[in-house]
Amino acid sequence: MNTRPSNSHPLQTETDIHTVTTISQALQGARHELQACSPSPAVDAGILLCHVLACTSAHLIAWPEKELNAEQAMQFEQLVAQRKQGTPVAYLTGTREFWSLDFKVTPDVLIPRAETETLVEFIIETFSEQPSLNVVDLGTGSGAIACALARERPGWNITATDVSEQALVIAQHNATLNQVNIAEFVHGSWFEPIRDRQFDIIVSNPPYVAVNDPHLESGDLRFEPTSALTSGEQGMDDIRRLTQQAGACLKSGGWLILEHGFDQQQLVREAFGKSGFIDIIQRNDIAGLPRMSAAHKA
Ligand SMILES: C[S@@+](CC[C@H](N)C(=O)[O-])C[C@H]1O[C@@H](n2cnc3c(N)ncnc32)[C@H](O)[C@@H]1O
Repeated sequence: MNTRPSNSHPLQTETDIHTVTTISQALQGARHELQACSPSPAVDAGILLCHVLACTSAHLIAWPEKELNAEQAMQFEQLVAQRKQGTPVAYLTGTREFWSLDFKVTPDVLIPRAETETLVEFIIETFSEQPSLNVVDLGTGSGAIACALARERPGWNITATDVSEQALVIAQHNATLNQVNIAEFVHGSWFEPIRDRQFDIIVSNPPYVAVNDPHLESGDLRFEPTSALTSGEQGMDDIRRLTQQAGACLKSGGWLILEHGFDQQQLVREAFGKSGFIDIIQRNDIAGLPRMSAAHKA
């Protein structure tokens, strides 16, 4: 990985001291560096190098002998070093794909996850015949759910909320980036900023990790905002708040659709039932884990 000999002469120019690194060598070196600290060293190395070279993964495969210039080699080396310290790849590149759309991500927002596409899929399938619906995405973060729905159903009126003003700035940026129309971005805690309104669908991927969950000490979670992750002793505080209060902001027959932890399926079912929701539907994510619950108001 090191492109500069430590005993180089101080008057040597950047060109003189640059040891030639090819795409193939850079990838090999990075894979080796990341082996002990990343679950996906080869994938990470490829994404980071594509970011530095502003190219596709096909380019890396097609041109393994192509040389990096000194600046590219140094930038790549720095990114690999940060990844080695645990920084998520998405925060290093500043971007993550969700629902085949590109999202800007910063440490102010949760990195959108593939499992959250389960909610988008369910909504598109279930309400495909509805030309106009009022939908709110509570705790929109990067805007992933709201933007995906807006892309699929441009005729729907979609509102996105978050308690984090920084997250709303990112979500707005992502709506523009993906050229989708989100009717409104609203700042505030859960139902407080929308309390006089009624929706056909309330969707949310709220914080649902238990405060003492050991997973918080590993992987990407260490770097993501705690306010986007944790929710009380069982991770259920926000989910309970949402099931208790959603009814007031739903039209008759309106749906509440929630993401939750793989081990919270039964607790979420009980929370829905206690608040009078009916016809509870639960779905697994792409990894086969129970991840989504939906039910409607009578
Ligand atoms: C798990 S993240 C989900 C982000 C995004 N919806 C996604 O699926 O990638 C939870 C989001 O809820 C927001 N949030 C936390 N507490 C909130 C509250 N009281 N009211 C509104 N949003 C809240 C966080 O700022 C964060 O953006």
